[in-house]
Amino acid sequence: MFEQVSMAPADPILGLTDAFKKDTRNEKINLGVGIYKDESGQTPILATVKEAEKRLLATEKTKSYLTIEGIAAYGTAVQKLLFGADSEIISSNRARTAQVPGGTGALRTGADFALKKLGIRKIWVSNPTWANHGNVFTTAGLKVASYDYYNAETRDLDFDAMVASLQHVEAGDLVLFHGCCHNPTGIDPTLEQWEVLAKLMADLGAVPFFDFAYQGFAKGIEEDAQGLRIFAKYNTELLIANSFSKNFGLYNERVGGITLVAEDSEIADSAFSQIKSGIRSNYSNPPAHGAAIVTTILEDADLYAQWDKEVADMRERIQEMRDLFVATLKEKGVAGDYSFISRQNGMFSFSGLTVEQVNQLKEEFAVYIVGSGRISVAGMTKDNMQPLCDAIAKVI
Ligand code: LMR
Repeated sequence: MFEQVSMAPADPILGLTDAFKKDTRNEKINLGVGIYKDESGQTPILATVKEAEKRLLATEKTKSYLTIEGIAAYGTAVQKLLFGADSEIISSNRARTAQVPGGTGALRTGADFALKKLGIRKIWVSNPTWANHGNVFTTAGLKVASYDYYNAETRDLDFDAMVASLQHVEAGDLVLFHGCCHNPTGIDPTLEQWEVLAKLMADLGAVPFFDFAYQGFAKGIEEDAQGLRIFAKYNTELLIANSFSKNFGLYNERVGGITLVAEDSEIADSAFSQIKSGIRSNYSNPPAHGAAIVTTILEDADLYAQWDKEVADMRERIQEMRDLFVATLKEKGVAGDYSFISRQNGMFSFSGLTVEQVNQLKEEFAVYIVGSGRISVAGMTKDNMQPLCDAIAKVI
């Protein structure tokens, strides 16, 4: 049987990492996958994570199964990060969170719930969006439609076009928004624009679905949740897929959450029971370690403050690289105004490099960038900036 199956295409992001690993050139630079690197090009384990692990190792008593939804205190901690500790959603007990394997696991769990338990058939995603969104949602069985987002000429959000295309959303459709640090463009709506979008979704009767993978990488932990919190003012039902891969550096622990917000606590209970039933039929219950680390840090005021600072350090280093990148391109005489790169949020920059230029960068200069022209600024360092910009200057 298996000989009938043809080779699947390489994943546009993770496939690039495989190719990068195989590349034997010493001077290679990986700006593909969204993984934070420090000034020495390493992806460090946060000091707070190390401390939490030390405490867990000393106190852990069992490796018995978790419940289907995972650690209860983890769910509470996630909700505080998303909605704010004093949120009405928390005091009225309208949210439920399941601990899931990473942001992708959260998206898939949410998509399965939407299709199989709510009968939703269509999801709207921004154009462009994360390269894996279409894959996750179509594999779950949803039809994927797209709404306008990016203006390639102004290198900015095309808000009028976005609102115009969202008018086609029908009641009961799922609409995906990036909570902050839009992947791949790095361009987020302003607070005023979030208000317009939130009201529009409520008017249309859509179900908003937030993909929130970069909390803390735009302006700060609280600041970056404002779009979602504005949505929560106008929309009584929400789904949120969050990830702690980036802001805790827990990439390979696969730790995320799927949170649903319902009109009241009773509805939340019955809806959540169906999310749990979906999880049971998929991977049964989640792995414990990553979520135990996150819970330990978020529940301890001192560790929380240290972690907040560690996130700020990562955010500030990326911003510094954005500014240095823009300045170095200018210094190399690369034609065009690249100042937009300094204004974008998070790990990514939508460079405008063409597929041909991206290929040439890979083949001739061992610089790895996703085919869409998305650059992971988090992979830039002061050491690789000169060769990187020399290479870009040659292909442009
Ligand atoms: C990315 O967009 O590079 C990250 O979210 C990693 C991934 O899984 O694609």
